[in-house]
Amino acid sequence: MMSEPPPGEPLWVQSPFMKAARKEPTPWTPVWFMRQAGRYLPEYRRLRSQIPFLQLCKTPSLCAEVMVRTVERLRVDAAILFSDLLVILEPMGLRLEYPVGEGPVFHNFLQSPHEVDRLLELDSLEELDFVLEAVRLTRSALPEHIPLIGFAGAPFTLASYAIEGQGGSHFRRTKSFMYSDPGAWQTLMERLARAVARFLNGQIQAGAQAVQLFDSWVGCLGPDDYCCYVLPYTRAVLEAITQHTPVIHFTTGNPALLPLVRQAGGQVIGVDWRIRLDEAWQTIGYDRAIQGNLDPVVLLAQQDLIRRRVQEILQQAGSRTGHIFNLGHGVLPQTPVENVMALVNMVHELSASKAGSESPSTWFSPSE
Ligand code: CP3
Repeated sequence: MMSEPPPGEPLWVQSPFMKAARKEPTPWTPVWFMRQAGRYLPEYRRLRSQIPFLQLCKTPSLCAEVMVRTVERLRVDAAILFSDLLVILEPMGLRLEYPVGEGPVFHNFLQSPHEVDRLLELDSLEELDFVLEAVRLTRSALPEHIPLIGFAGAPFTLASYAIEGQGGSHFRRTKSFMYSDPGAWQTLMERLARAVARFLNGQIQAGAQAVQLFDSWVGCLGPDDYCCYVLPYTRAVLEAITQHTPVIHFTTGNPALLPLVRQAGGQVIGVDWRIRLDEAWQTIGYDRAIQGNLDPVVLLAQQDLIRRRVQEILQQAGSRTGHIFNLGHGVLPQTPVENVMALVNMVHELSASKAGSESPSTWFSPSE
């Protein structure tokens, strides 16, 4: 059982998620998912049939409700703010749209390096107050023992949207911008780095216990380009984050970047399934915590396969402190909800028995 917290200390401080982020021992391996509140959930789809996505993001009370209900339903160990990576670019001058059935689009994206100044400095968080309000409302509606994770896109991933106008596949325009005009690239990345740091610190001040920096598309680069065109700016963001707030630095697509991702910073490094977890941890170094790394497609399979894969990942984490279980990327819309719920139970049960402690799942009746 957990010992009594010191008077005045909020319960989330000693939660398994926060302990793992600090590399302290935990009674079970904490687990949460990227895109845990999303289209695979029927109740989310119902809500979305009544309100467009961007309007949902701009209605803090609904954002809070969506996430709090999801956490209750899944019994995950952490909540992530319900919002989107791209809303930060609107007050910076880009017009964001989510056309039905397609990914997000910016129609007035940066056509060439000469247009770099069309991306404006984010001088204040006033126009993003709806996000901060969502943090405040989510924090106050969540049970006290559940930490809330704030998030933002990393400068490279945001730059790629600003330059491609949408999620690209080869990032040809982004790389050409970067190679052809390093000065404009520096201006762009420094401006984004300042904006992201300001935004994340705003979320921390509004009540987030940890933050995740998503560099979702940076895996399209090789290590030398990462080093030169990305690392200094990501490092600047991470160095500017409010002290004592754990940061999860997440990238996907290219395990060869991991030693550099470590150098850029983050107490927790998020990894995908393209590398074994044990190998990733050895590369990153055991002084950092690690988050990952089940392939989201495994959740479309039978539960006995899911269980085997969970067991393998837990075995690879071994008896080290500092593993946060997650998928290597977001939950896919086709995922059966019962598999996501079963996965949470599997992680809790298998890791608790490994640690010789009681699983949190036994606190609830299995028929619920
Ligand atoms: O549950 C959560 O994880 C919290 C909320 C969250 C969303 N987006 C909600 C969302 C988070 C953390 C994000 C991050 C995000 N958004 C990323 C980084 C994570 C990653 O997947 O790499 C990126 C690249 C985006 C940009 C974005 N937003 C895309 C590409 C899309 C469309 C494609 C898709 O997968 O849905 C979105 C839309 C979006 N963001 C939805 C949700 C729940 C679906 C919108 C809908 O209801 O139709």
